[in-house]
Amino acid sequence: MNILIRKFFYLLPVPLRFVVRRIIYLPKDLLLSKKTSLIPPKGLIFTGRGDYLKTGANYFLLFKKYCDFNPDSDVLDIGCGIGRMAISFTNYLSPKGKYEGFDIVKIGIDWCTKNISSRFPNFTFKLIPLKNDLYLSNSDKKASELVFPYKNESFDLVFLTSVFTHMLPNDLENYISEIQRVLKTNQKCFATFFLLDEESKTVTKSNQSKKFPHDMGTYALMDKSVKEANIAYDKKFIFELMQKHNLEITDFLRGNWSGIQNSEENEHQDIIIFKKK
Ligand SMILES: C[S@@+](CC[C@H](N)C(=O)[O-])C[C@H]1O[C@@H](n2cnc3c(N)ncnc32)[C@H](O)[C@@H]1O
Repeated sequence: MNILIRKFFYLLPVPLRFVVRRIIYLPKDLLLSKKTSLIPPKGLIFTGRGDYLKTGANYFLLFKKYCDFNPDSDVLDIGCGIGRMAISFTNYLSPKGKYEGFDIVKIGIDWCTKNISSRFPNFTFKLIPLKNDLYLSNSDKKASELVFPYKNESFDLVFLTSVFTHMLPNDLENYISEIQRVLKTNQKCFATFFLLDEESKTVTKSNQSKKFPHDMGTYALMDKSVKEANIAYDKKFIFELMQKHNLEITDFLRGNWSGIQNSEENEHQDIIIFKKK
């Protein structure tokens, strides 16, 4: 997003950001959107630009390549947004498999429940309204205190796509600990980040890529007025956090957000895949 448009967008109160997006795309949505389609109207897609179906399908291939699960597996999608990842699983999971998603934004959960769960009853989406200065301002519930509403050792696969990039350290650490609790032993979590190390810092200094000018120690912000809009983490801090919570990193795939083009997958965000020991 152009910096000026982004600045203007961040000046708006959170609920108005959703309304503005809906209005901008309304003419196109009225003309093109089909009520029965498994793609939400563009004005409801608050979870990022890019092709909705293709993004989900690409990530599905990566989950398959780097994690271990099958059609009968139990899957947890943390920060499931408006179902971008869930759609690819609708053609994959058997009725024995289970898909659970939760998010803090009601319009996403409502859309997923109405359009996905109604056709695929083994897909469940929960609203957990937690405060976040990009997505939900009128809540005083903290992600740092959330106990995920699932039993210990319930999932074969957990993933977070572009979610830790919107969470501050105390919240993130609680989620790492909860992921450790709900994952089955030897099963994996796939999570995306913006990670800062010497290489990514050097490259971002010298080019026009994403920048995180506000150094907060273990993390850095793109914009101080809306902290949770984009957060980058010190790579060492994240790696140590995984270790502290008895999680083993099985793969690290560097994304191209910083301008570095050296991962075979060439995804935008960095990816860490970790396993419960
Ligand atoms: C960029 S969107 C990505 C959505 C989805 N993972 C995808 O890839 O389509 C970030 C999502 O994280 C959600 N989110 C932010 N903080 C959260 C939290 N503490 N717990 C769960 N979801 C959160 C937002 O509501 C939003 O849906």
